[in-house]
Amino acid sequence: MKEKIAVIVVMAAFLATLSHSRVFADDEGGETAYRFDPATQTSRALEYKNTWAGYKLYQSNCKSCHFRGNDKGARFLDTDSRTMRGWNTLFYKKNVQCAKDGSWAKLSPEELMDVNDYLYSKAYDTWDPRSNKSCG
Ligand code: HEC
Repeated sequence: MKEKIAVIVVMAAFLATLSHSRVFADDEGGETAYRFDPATQTSRALEYKNTWAGYKLYQSNCKSCHFRGNDKGARFLDTDSRTMRGWNTLFYKKNVQCAKDGSWAKLSPEELMDVNDYLYSKAYDTWDPRSNKSCG
């Protein structure tokens, strides 16, 4: 009897883990989205690990200036300030004041790519079923 219970407990734990990992694998709505990076000419999977890393880097290295009402002369910036293509162009050309004056220098090329992945995944022309963006 004890053994049977042990087996059931192990099975339940196993199933719980399985269903959990599905949640993470599913975080792009079942299919992994990709971003073609013009600088490196590679295709990047928009997975949780790089978009989450990008989100944190964006919050600490971009939003530190680009928040509403800041005194650094930076315009308010949000993920939907640019289209998917617009974000790619920004990180490819780096032709904005802060990129030129060294404010991006703390971030490595790989980190900038993660920020690009994050912003791309939430850009103006992406569709999020949890938001009302597409309702006009
Ligand atoms: C030290 C402060 C600072 C940091 C950090 C910073 N910026 Fe800027 N950024 C500025 C200023 C100042 C301007 C010029 C004023 C403007 O156009 O907003 C600017 C301009 C821009 C513009 C053009 C403005 C627009 O709305 O078209 C974009 C896009 C931009 N930054 C993105 C970023 C991104 C992405 C990061 C992080 C990788 C970043 N910035 C980090 C200060 C900063």
